[in-house]
Amino acid sequence: MTSRALDERETAARPIARRDTAPARAGYDVEAIRAQFPILARPVRGKPLAYLDNAATSQKPRAVIDAIRRYYEEDNANVHRGVHLLSERATRAQEAARVKVARFLGTDDPHEVIFVRGTTEAVNLVAQTFGRQRVGPGDEILVTCLEHHSNIVPWQLLCQEKGAALKVVPISDAGDLELDALDRLLGPRTRLLAVTQVSNALGTVTPIAEIIERAHARGVPVLVDGAQGAPHLGFDVGRAGADFYAFSGHKIYGPTGIGVLWGRRALLEEMPPWQGGGDMILSVSFEKTTFNALPYKFEAGTPHIAGAVGLGAALDWVGEVGLEAIAAHERAILDTAAAALAEVPELRIIGAPRERAGAISFLLGDVHPHDAGTILDRHGVAVRAGHHCAQPLLARLGLSATLRASFAAYSTPREIEQLVRALHAVREIFA
Ligand code: ALA
Repeated sequence: MTSRALDERETAARPIARRDTAPARAGYDVEAIRAQFPILARPVRGKPLAYLDNAATSQKPRAVIDAIRRYYEEDNANVHRGVHLLSERATRAQEAARVKVARFLGTDDPHEVIFVRGTTEAVNLVAQTFGRQRVGPGDEILVTCLEHHSNIVPWQLLCQEKGAALKVVPISDAGDLELDALDRLLGPRTRLLAVTQVSNALGTVTPIAEIIERAHARGVPVLVDGAQGAPHLGFDVGRAGADFYAFSGHKIYGPTGIGVLWGRRALLEEMPPWQGGGDMILSVSFEKTTFNALPYKFEAGTPHIAGAVGLGAALDWVGEVGLEAIAAHERAILDTAAAALAEVPELRIIGAPRERAGAISFLLGDVHPHDAGTILDRHGVAVRAGHHCAQPLLARLGLSATLRASFAAYSTPREIEQLVRALHAVREIFA
């Protein structure tokens, strides 16, 4: 086994902007940003593309596409195995990406960064290791009504296996978490609170620091689902004090198939490995296997090296534009969208949370969202229509589906105008 100590010197030469120090640029040039995303210039169904499905996946800037291509053209080999130059280069590229992720999350310890396929895999990893170790009959796992299925089902499976109970923090009609209920539900048998930073369906921003504080006051560790939060708000693991944080590369301008589980070192050390295989071991015999150190203990098999490289490039890109600048732009776009949608007759915006980021859900009269979404597509407008993998949330609101427009660093008022024009066309068809 080759030595695999992480090395700060492996950080790529390009500067990494810490998210809390990235300057918010005066004069955000959205057209210059759009020009970096080749796909945005492609017409769809003969119309300019209004890509408003960013909560499902974001588009990728040239810097990310080039980094992946460069990796395959110049560095490709397997990591941590070969003694040859390309293997060294591939290893260095992957570990440099890990350091970039650590910095994005405001920590200096890249050993706490585990590469996974995405948020879903990160949550499953915690459920199947931390959860299986710590949850027993009669225990409780607490989730919230805002969660995506990927932060519900892994806990449900665990509870079924262990004879534990899944408890749910309710929401108000506006789509905000009921914090008084959270306090009541945090009990002596609660083994973990799993909560989203931002709702994918409504855009609700949860008061995550306060939630973590309340849970910790009761001795309950917290897993934060950052799939929707990371691209719009970032997350500082030290400042927020979470125990686990999960996010996906593809929603933050990086490739699909790569994501991150960050965990507090003490917890990760205690957790048993998840998948067995190459790379997660120190030694194997038929009698006994000893496991590798963090983070490799949780990274069995050949990883998605190009994905990690692409994610690193995406975080560089976000750092260069400035997360604060992106967030300010997206807030303005959300306000513009909310005001424009409110003007469309018979349109109903779903939820009115205290704070919203990234997405807005709505219904148009009694037109089924799938029908409306299909017509919007004919007008070059890409939105998501359906239950958004948040069926319990929609059921709580008495709904089975909505239309959802979701935004990114490159979203423009022109796209919102195109959406509104297309919604009028939908109304004409169904009038
Ligand atoms: N979770 C993604 C969404 O909300 C796929 O659309």
